[in-house]
Amino acid sequence: MKNFFDLSGERIFITGAGGAIGGATARVMSELGAEIIITDLKAPTALAEELGKGARAIALDNASRKDVEAVFADVGPLDAMVDCSGYYVKGDWIDGGDDWEALLQRTIDVNVKGPVNLVRACLPAMKQRKSGRIVLTGSMAARNAGSTLAVEPAYAASKGGLHALVRYFARQVADQGIVVNGIAPGAILTPLLISANQPFATETYPMKRLGQPPEIAWPIAFLCSRGTSFMTGAVIDVNGGVAFS
Ligand SMILES: NC(=O)c1ccc[n+]([C@@H]2O[C@H](COP(=O)([O-])OP(=O)(O)OC[C@H]3O[C@@H](n4cnc5c(N)ncnc54)[C@H](O)[C@@H]3O)[C@@H](O)[C@H]2O)c1
Repeated sequence: MKNFFDLSGERIFITGAGGAIGGATARVMSELGAEIIITDLKAPTALAEELGKGARAIALDNASRKDVEAVFADVGPLDAMVDCSGYYVKGDWIDGGDDWEALLQRTIDVNVKGPVNLVRACLPAMKQRKSGRIVLTGSMAARNAGSTLAVEPAYAASKGGLHALVRYFARQVADQGIVVNGIAPGAILTPLLISANQPFATETYPMKRLGQPPEIAWPIAFLCSRGTSFMTGAVIDVNGGVAFS
C-alpha cells in the first residue's frame, strides 16, 4: 500500500520560497521526495541548487496576473500548489499619515490578489487531471486581529479575506478531485516577524516560545499529501496553543 504521506514523484510549486516558511516548506517536501518548483520576487536559485533533484527557481510577482499565468503555462502539470508569500508592513489607519492607503493596496495585492491569481492559474490543469492540492498561508492575525501581538490592520484584513477564499475555492472544485486548504500560523520566528520589531510576551504563551519555520512546513507537507482526500476548506491553526478558532 502506498504511504499516503510520501511525496515521491509529486510535482509541487511553492511560492514565497525565498522566505523562511516557504524555504523550509521546500526543504521538507524535497526530503519527502517531491520535485520542487520554487518562486519568489527574486528567483530563489541558491535554494534550488541546495535542493537539487531537478528543482527549478523562477522570479515571479504573484500580484501580476499576467506573469502568474505565463509561469503556470510554462511549468506543466502540478500535483500541488502552495503559496507561502506574504506582505507585512506596519501602518496606522487611525493616527498615521496618508501612506496607509498605499500600504492597504499593496497588502491586498500581495495577500489577496496574489493567491487569487495563483489559484485561478493552476486550476485548469488540475481540473483536466481531476487531481490537485492547493495550500494558502493565512494567519492567526485573521482570527484574533491582535490580541496576542500588535497586528497591522491591513494585514489582518487581508488574511481574513484569504481564509474566506480558501473556503470559496474549496467548494468550487470539491467535486473535481481538487482540495484547497489553508494554514493559519501563529508567531513564527522569521524575517517577516522580526521586521515588525515588536516584543513578544512568550512567557504567557502555552509553549513559552515562538514557532520555527519547519513547524509550519511539516503541516503544509501534510496538506500536500494524499492524506487530505476528504479534507477541504479547512484553515488549520498552528500556533502552539496561543489561540483556538
Ligand atoms: N512569520 C510569522 O509569524 C507569520 C505568522 C502568520 C502568517 N505568516 C505568513 O506566512 C507566510 C510566510 O511568511 P514568512 O514568515 O516566511 O515571511 P518571509 O518574509 O520570510 O517570506 C515571505 C516571502 O514572500 C515574498 N513575497 C512578498 N511579496 C511577494 C509577491 N508579490 N510575489 C511573490 N513573493 C512575494 C517575499 O519576497 C518573501 O520571500 C506569509 O504568508 C505570512 O503572512 C507568517
